[in-house]
Amino acid sequence: MAKILAIESSCDETAVAIVDDGKLLSNIVATQISVHEKFGGVMPEIASRLHAENITVCLEEALTEAKLTLEDIDAFAVTRGPGLIGCLHVGLQAAKTLAMLYEKPLIPVHHLAGHIYANEYVGDFKFPMLCIVVSGGNTELVLMRDHMDFEIIGETKDDAIGECYDKVARVLGLPYPGGLPIDLAAKQGQHVYDLPVPDAGAGPCDFSYSGLKTAVINLVNSLRMKGEEVSVPDMARSFQDVAVGMVVDKSIRAAYEHHVKQIVLAGGVSANSYLREQMGKKLEGSGIELIIPPLWCTTDNAAMIAKVAARLYEQKIFAPLSLGVDPNWKIDHWKEF
Ligand code: KG4
Repeated sequence: MAKILAIESSCDETAVAIVDDGKLLSNIVATQISVHEKFGGVMPEIASRLHAENITVCLEEALTEAKLTLEDIDAFAVTRGPGLIGCLHVGLQAAKTLAMLYEKPLIPVHHLAGHIYANEYVGDFKFPMLCIVVSGGNTELVLMRDHMDFEIIGETKDDAIGECYDKVARVLGLPYPGGLPIDLAAKQGQHVYDLPVPDAGAGPCDFSYSGLKTAVINLVNSLRMKGEEVSVPDMARSFQDVAVGMVVDKSIRAAYEHHVKQIVLAGGVSANSYLREQMGKKLEGSGIELIIPPLWCTTDNAAMIAKVAARLYEQKIFAPLSLGVDPNWKIDHWKEF
């Protein structure tokens, strides 16, 4: 087996991890959240610049913690997409430079495959398996019949669920990123506001979040215009019931339809306490196993990229040094690069 160094820089976390024979030796994450917080969202240009500033320090720290030098590394892996184009470029240029200098293979990894495989730090996969991929940029139901075999059976037709959480938090005056503040506020509230359950129309496993986002914004604005006080906990609870309810209902239906043995949660929104609780409850006595990732796995990190890379290394799936990023790379096209 090999020592693999993996780099992740697709959004607002610069991360480097090293695995040896599947064992995680180091996992360094430099988050930029405090910088983007004041803008209420990730500023792509600032994010790219910060990646460029942070990448060398993260590389050094990862090597120090793993007690290795760059000469010891057998392959360099990197997130090639999806993500913010400038951000992805920083990670890719770093990985390509190292692969070229040390004459070692370059391994291109799909960011969402990473989020899914983060769950392998918790337990072994059993197929068929349903992956609920819910993050700031993606909302997808992915069916896996085997390792690295991904079929997108449903996806959002407009906004991602995490993006919707962040926009709703903003109108309620909660900090960015809005997922956790809404999750916490919802625990104190009641479902008193009537919000529509958007119908994506395109398929039973598809999602739509822009209508729900607009409904919350319009309701909050019209209540405020009438001089009525908006209860943040009640609005958070009403919104979360609908937003998460849609994921739970569609996932459970898909799980039975495809006779899955296991369900895994992946992506930033998989940290949501109501989603975790509801999935657990709905699957009780079903015989379907639920893997819930530890919280450190739900945010962007390079340990998850290294997990996929180790598998690709075994199969000798390497990229040429002419590799480019793909901000819109689809998970079912991960072999195309
Ligand atoms: O996976 P991630 O870092 O984003 C992408 O790579 O796209 O996820 C970030 C998203 C943010 O939208 C954040 O608000 C959301 O995950 N999030 C949550 C929770 N914690 C983070 N959403 C709902 N409930 C949470 N507890």
